[in-house]
This record gives sequence, C-alpha cells and structure tokens, in this order.
Amino acid sequence: MCGIMGCVGKPDAREIILNGLARQEYRGYDSAGIALRCPDGVRNIKIVGRVSELAKLIEERAAECDGAASGIGHTRWATHGGVTVTNAHPHESSDGMITLVHNGIIENAREIRADLEAKGITFVTETDTESPCQLLANIYDGDALAAMSALCNSLTGAFALVIMFRDRPGEIWCARKGSPLVVATADGASYCASDPTALLEYTHDLFFMEEGEIALLSVDGCRFFSFDGERAGKEPIRLNWDSVMADKGQFEHFMRKEIEEQPDVLRLTIDSYTAVTSVDMEKSLKLPDGLMKRIRRVQLVACGTSHYATLAAKDIIESLDDSLDIRVEVASEYRYRNIPGGGDTLAVFVSQSGETADTLAAARLARAKGSHCVAITNVRGSTIDREVEHTLLSLAGPEIGVAATKTFTAQIALLALLALHLTKERGVLSARDEARLIGGMRLLPAQMQSLLEREPEIKALAEKYSGSKGYFFIGRRECVPLTMEGALKLKEIAYLPSEAYAAGEMKHGPIAMLDEKLAVVALVPEGDLREKTLSNVEECRARNAPIILLVTEGDAEAREFASDVVFIPRTERELFSFVGVIPLQLFAYHTAKTLGRDIDMPRNLAKSVTVE
Ligand code: M6R
Repeated sequence: MCGIMGCVGKPDAREIILNGLARQEYRGYDSAGIALRCPDGVRNIKIVGRVSELAKLIEERAAECDGAASGIGHTRWATHGGVTVTNAHPHESSDGMITLVHNGIIENAREIRADLEAKGITFVTETDTESPCQLLANIYDGDALAAMSALCNSLTGAFALVIMFRDRPGEIWCARKGSPLVVATADGASYCASDPTALLEYTHDLFFMEEGEIALLSVDGCRFFSFDGERAGKEPIRLNWDSVMADKGQFEHFMRKEIEEQPDVLRLTIDSYTAVTSVDMEKSLKLPDGLMKRIRRVQLVACGTSHYATLAAKDIIESLDDSLDIRVEVASEYRYRNIPGGGDTLAVFVSQSGETADTLAAARLARAKGSHCVAITNVRGSTIDREVEHTLLSLAGPEIGVAATKTFTAQIALLALLALHLTKERGVLSARDEARLIGGMRLLPAQMQSLLEREPEIKALAEKYSGSKGYFFIGRRECVPLTMEGALKLKEIAYLPSEAYAAGEMKHGPIAMLDEKLAVVALVPEGDLREKTLSNVEECRARNAPIILLVTEGDAEAREFASDVVFIPRTERELFSFVGVIPLQLFAYHTAKTLGRDIDMPRNLAKSVTVE
C-alpha cells in the first residue's frame, strides 16, 4: 500500500527518486521521505504530506544533497503508527548503519522490538518497520548477504524492503515476501520500485522479484539470491507499456483521462480476442484439451470494482449456459471458507493490479484444492500473473487513478469473451448468440464515445444533486452490478453515503430512508424487466425521493417517472454494463469535483491493497 523508489548509479538520483515517488503516489500518500547517500553521509528528509511538498523541501536543502548518486524513497499509507514525520519512511537504525523503507506489514514486529529493547536498543517510532531496521543493524557484521538472509528468515508477515548499509556505498539491497517489488538495470544504473510504471522511463526490461527473493542493486546490475543466500538466475520480462500512458496529458485528473480511454481499450480487447464474428481465445488461454466440457463449477473471485466486474460476468455466463454452478465470491471471504474445488472447477481470479493480498490468497487456496485457475490482470509480471498457471491480460494500459474505471470495462470485456469461449467449447453456444454478442460488442466503443460526448449533461446533474444527503442506486439483474459500481465510485471519491440495491429489495427495508434529500439513481434499460423496475421507481417517487433515470434512447415515456433522465444507447441486453457505467463514472467524478475532493488520491485509500 506504499510506494517505494530506489536508484543507484545516477548523478541525478534525487530527481529520479522524486519522479518515481510522484508516479507511485497513488499507492499511498499520507507522508513521504527520501534518503540520499551524499558524500558526507546519508541525508534523510521526510514530511507529512505529498511528494510535491517533499520536492519543495528538498529543493530548499539542495546544497546539502549535492553529489548523491544513490538513494531510496517512500510514500506511506499508514498501517502501524500515526501519520507523523517520525513514523514516515525511510527509517534509520539507532547506530546509523541501516536506512530502510518498507511496504507491507511485519507481523512479529512487537516481539522483535521487545527483544531488541531488552538489549538496550531504543526505538523512536510507532511503526512495525523500525523492527526490521533495528534488527538488521543488530545482525550485520560486515556480511550483507548473510545479514539480509537472517533478517528475511526471521520476519513474518508481508514485506518489500529496500535498504542502504552505511558502509556499502554503491549498493542497494532489496527483499520481497508478499509485497511487490520490481527492479531493473539500464545505462550503468540500477533501480527498484513498487510499481513497474515508475521504471518505464529508464527501461522496459524489468525483473519482477519473486516471493522469498533478495536482490543486490549496483552500477554493475542486479544480482538475485534466495532467502537462504543461494544465487538465483533470473530473466527480465519486457513490459510494452509506454511511459506517456502513465501521464495525465491534457486532463485535469487521471480518473477523467482513464474514463475517456474506455472506447479504445474495448476496441483493443475485442480485436485481440475475436475473429470477425467469433471468439478467438485459444491462442491466449491454453487450457487442457476438453477441459471446458468437464467443468461443472465456475468460481469468479475478486475484490472491490473487480468483484463487480465478476458479478456482471456471472449474468453473461448464466444467460448462455444454465448447466453450470457459478459462484461469485469476494476474495477476502473465499479464502476463509470451505468452498469446493477440484478438477471440475474453473476458478477465475480478477485483479487489476495483480497484487491484491486477498485475491492472491484465494488463488493459492483454489490451486491447492486442484481447481483449474485463470487470472485476469492488467499487469504483466504481477504476482498473480506469475503464480496462476493461466493469465488473460486485460489491455487497459496503466491505471493510475485510485478509482478503477477503464480496467472495470476491460475486465468485463475479457470475462464476456471468456464466457463465449467457455460455452462454445462446451457446445452450448449457438452461432447466432456468438455473432449477436460479438456484433454487439463491436458497436460498444462508438456507443461509449457518444456518452462521453454528453459529459456536460452529466456534469450538470452531478452539480444539481451534490447537496444530497445520500444516494441509492437501484436496478435489476444485469443492472445490479452496475448499481454497486456506481455507489462505490461515489463513496470512494466523493465520500458520500451511497447504497446499491436490487430494485425489488427496496421495499424490504431501505425505502424507509427515502425523502426529498436522498436521490435515487435508477437503471432501467428496455427489456423484460423495464415495467417491474419502473414500478419500484414509482414506489421511491411516492416517498418524495428525487429520481434520476438511466433509460434506453427513445424511451420518452420514462420522463414521467423522473426528475431527470439520461438516455443510454441501445445494446444487447447482456452488454448494458459497458454503456451504463459511463454516466455513473462521470456522475461520481463531477460530484467529487464539485465538492472539491482529491479525485485521483481519495482520502484513506490506496490503489493497490497488498495487506489483508
Ligand atoms: O487491483 P485489484 O483489482 O485487485 O483491486 C481491487 C480493489 O481494491 C479495487 O477495485 C478498488 O475497489 C478500486 N479502488 C475501486 O475503484
């Protein structure tokens, strides 16, 4: 949940580290710090606040930092200990030998602290991170690899550690267990970061550190070892992302830019996984022959927005094949329940980052039960990509805004295509349905574009309702996952109470909350459930709630039921999510903007949730 950046071998290490921290600030942003190895010793500068404020402070103290060709930096998302300068990373051991940054949680930090305090070592922070820092200084006797090895073997919990030893200039040591870390070498310098996007300016050939791995970075390159100190060979993975993809460009926020990118992302996904009117996934997903026919259970497991994408996928799969037992599970629950698995189970784990701790744990459990596992992730080389046998890559490009947008649509697109592939292999997909859905998908980018062009309308609505005391999002069947996503977007970036309900459930309790200050956003596309959903809308209107209706273009009658109406292009029933989500994303974005929220870095959140 924190961002790490390190560099060794560059005279402008200071700028490189600050730049890398700025790129990863979405990972955690309550405090920041950087330790530079200057000719007269390590200079450690920390602040409570953003990387831009750290950069200002470093600028003021530039003279002190001259000549630093290596250093390590960190942006924090506090877990242990308040948000203070003392608790910010980097941390230093009492004897000044070790300077260290950490992402993750050290579970035995208290025991280590008690042992070391008993030996007379004084701790100065409230963090779990100070424990490995002081412990390493206590162990180190001149053999860095042996000390790293002893340290890593004595820690429990999750960690990505990046370390400078005072007496080893020109070296940065890294270790990984549970929290991501990527390292690289280019032009006589070596780098490390939590997130690959921070390194793309320097190279596209990246070494993703494995569980239980130590790395030594120097001007001579990167060397890798196991936690037992054995030398390990390793090949880089080429990441074909462009560094400008991780820039805001003309947009005020990453979130807005990423909403805009959705038609292109969808086009690319469809082109990559289909032929003209048929699904073409065999090249990308090499499952054992005949497996799909033997599958009886499908499990779709994820967290947050990725979970809502799996709910949308469930509707698509079951509309095509009613012989499968389909389970959608939140990963944090899946991992602690006794859920069936085995050779007749296809378990699909969906994670934008590929680093979400709960999703990884759930995938490990399913693998242990012998289920056939597939990962859907946006990050090649991420932990889930490397741990799960089969990966389908979503082709959304880097997503920087904390609120997931384009990766949501990319995930549903991939899951929809996987649904077609699965049901085709099982012999239950008709050629008509295949052509209908693929044809329908091909229309989506233009339909999404037409909605993006109606942004002023949605912005006006967001402004009009931004004084509401809360929101209800309601809909039925294919709309239910979207109600959840619409409500989550408002919660996470506008901090407004918002609830999602299957429309038929309102009268079983929630309707009691309604009055003229609670807005109801109702998703009512044309189709067999239109009338029933409109009846539920009527029930809300009768309680004086203002109603915003999302209906299919041409549904003029809908105006009678609503205070405001947004018209949505007509799609195949199963594909409504792709168009329905655009106004919901824009609505949340403009509500948050009206309220002056920090849209790309909402309070208390982090992009990649690498702790349980
Ligand atoms: O990287 P993942 O897809 O595994 O992340 C899962 C959730 O943390 C994520 O979708 C989160 O809910 C988003 N911030 C929502 O916008």
